[in-house]
Amino acid sequence: MTNESPSHANAALVFGGSRGIGAAIARRLARDGHPVALTYASRADKAAEVVAAIEAEGGTALALQADSADAGALASAVASATARLGPPGIAVVNAGLYQGSPLDAFPLDMLDRLLAVNVRGVFLSIQAAAARMVDGGRIITIGSNTAVRSGVVGSSVYAMTKAAVATLVRELALDLAPRRITINNIQPGPIETDITAGFLEQLVERNPLRRVGTPGEVAALAAHLASAEAGYMTGASLTMDGGFSI
Ligand SMILES: NC(=O)c1ccc[n+]([C@@H]2O[C@H](COP(=O)([O-])OP(=O)(O)OC[C@H]3O[C@@H](n4cnc5c(N)ncnc54)[C@H](OP(=O)(O)O)[C@@H]3O)[C@@H](O)[C@H]2O)c1
Repeated sequence: MTNESPSHANAALVFGGSRGIGAAIARRLARDGHPVALTYASRADKAAEVVAAIEAEGGTALALQADSADAGALASAVASATARLGPPGIAVVNAGLYQGSPLDAFPLDMLDRLLAVNVRGVFLSIQAAAARMVDGGRIITIGSNTAVRSGVVGSSVYAMTKAAVATLVRELALDLAPRRITINNIQPGPIETDITAGFLEQLVERNPLRRVGTPGEVAALAAHLASAEAGYMTGASLTMDGGFSI
């Protein structure tokens, strides 16, 4: 383990970097000079598109299949990324899914999957990345503004998983502080991705700014949190939702 702060030479790991917010973060960090390793669950085609886009802009990227519900796959992905790109200076834990149902019909397998990916997978990703990270590194999670306020029937378990992420980040800040590794959580509101496709109109209607956010806007905040300048912020959850949850 070195005692450096993350520099452009340090690799960035993006868990769930093949589509949406994660893809935008992977591309932004590559543009900022970091070699990027991104994981995906099943969309190898989309992961390859992100890698090609980064390479077309002169960056370095590799895609690794690793379902965040699979502890072994996560550990192998981090080991392989480290072997090829060096120890990570940045890890962005974005992989997550939205599923919902009213209480009386909530299926057990949906409950288990949400917990496995959005909570257990987040913890395991952080644990695997931190074990190989340079001192002074940066960890960023993507939570959700539903951790703060939701009001949508059916979102109970999803919101619970994102509240768990916020608490996990707050507490892990203490574990990581001796190595000057910071960890922070971005809580986006509605962002235009595959998750929100189909109900964008109603989300715009409920938003004080009368629009949804873009993956690029989340990526810009992630890039700041990943920078050397953000070294005094840790354990924080930052809500970015156009005022949706005020
Ligand atoms: N969009 C929003 O409005 C919004 C708002 C608040 C929070 N968020 C959070 O932001 C994150 C990204 O959301 P998004 O809207 O960008 O979603 P998205 O467009 O559906 O993309 C999800 C990304 O995560 C990956 N992923 C999903 N499940 C995975 C698993 N089990 N293992 C590994 N990778 C997995 C996907 O890989 P594949 O391509 O292989 O499926 C994809 O790269 C999520 O944590 C979500 O909860 C989103």
